[in-house]
Amino acid sequence: MKQFISIKDVTDVDALVEEAFSVRLNPYLNKHLGNNKTLGLIFLNPSLRTRLSTQKAAINLGMNVMVMNLDKEGWALELEDGSVMNGSGVEHIKDASAVMGQYCDIIGIRCFPLLKDRKQDYSEQLLTQLIRYCKVPVISLESATLHPLQSFADLIMIKDKWKEIRKPKVVLSWAPHIKALPQAVPNSFAQWMCRSDVDFVITHPPELELAEQFTTGARICYDQNEAVADADFVYVKNWSAYQDYGKIIHPDKDWFLTPERLKISNQAKIMHCLPVRRNLELSDALIDGPDSLILQQADNRLWAAQTVLKKILENI
Ligand code: CP
Repeated sequence: MKQFISIKDVTDVDALVEEAFSVRLNPYLNKHLGNNKTLGLIFLNPSLRTRLSTQKAAINLGMNVMVMNLDKEGWALELEDGSVMNGSGVEHIKDASAVMGQYCDIIGIRCFPLLKDRKQDYSEQLLTQLIRYCKVPVISLESATLHPLQSFADLIMIKDKWKEIRKPKVVLSWAPHIKALPQAVPNSFAQWMCRSDVDFVITHPPELELAEQFTTGARICYDQNEAVADADFVYVKNWSAYQDYGKIIHPDKDWFLTPERLKISNQAKIMHCLPVRRNLELSDALIDGPDSLILQQADNRLWAAQTVLKKILENI
């Protein structure tokens, strides 16, 4: 594997999941792979799971890890090529990337969207510039549009459980929130589900259509009850509007999922990527209930990250 920016970097998704199962069974088997190799983890936004799971994955593989909160600890970045830097940008991404690439064998970066200008966010300018200039493999720790490490962990979780189910029905269900959240997790989850042998349905208010480039192959349903009927897995997630970009939508209907509403499902397993605002996005009863996979999902973040790092280290 040369980089891990999206599912497009994965040639065989099933084989990658099988490899994650092997890594999970024997986490210290490949400690030699990371010997004298350095992973740089660059954050422009907060993180708990991604930061710690990727760091632990690297340690399990014998790597050294450097973490930098670039938004707080680094120079303000300029992204525009050819610009006269007489504004707020102190260091050009071109220079920062080239320097980081000299210190690191692999770089992971988290760079959220600003949710003001869709074209700008969906161009993934910062990530693209980093890849161009750092000259080492790059892993997305969640970009403006995608969160592939999360989706890989989600697929590991589903495959863990679906052994008993022939072709599971997986539903991505929009949930209410008070903040404008990115579309990266649902975009990415849709991409990975559309490449998997599942019956995949996305349910959301009509104003919250996701970008078609990520949802092609999914069934879209504006009726949550209809969507969750017979569902085996329900992935609950908020996102802000893609059409009316970055807008917080307060739909007429109530989209808050409860155990009562899930009675028509096939005793659906509940998924959420975390962090979750309890009793706003999802009820305590569902998060802490017997069908919740949420903590196991977070555990699988480690195995997803370790598998990706292993594949890249094998290719360096
Ligand atoms: N799910 C996830 O990416 O969590 P963090 O934002 O805490 O890394």
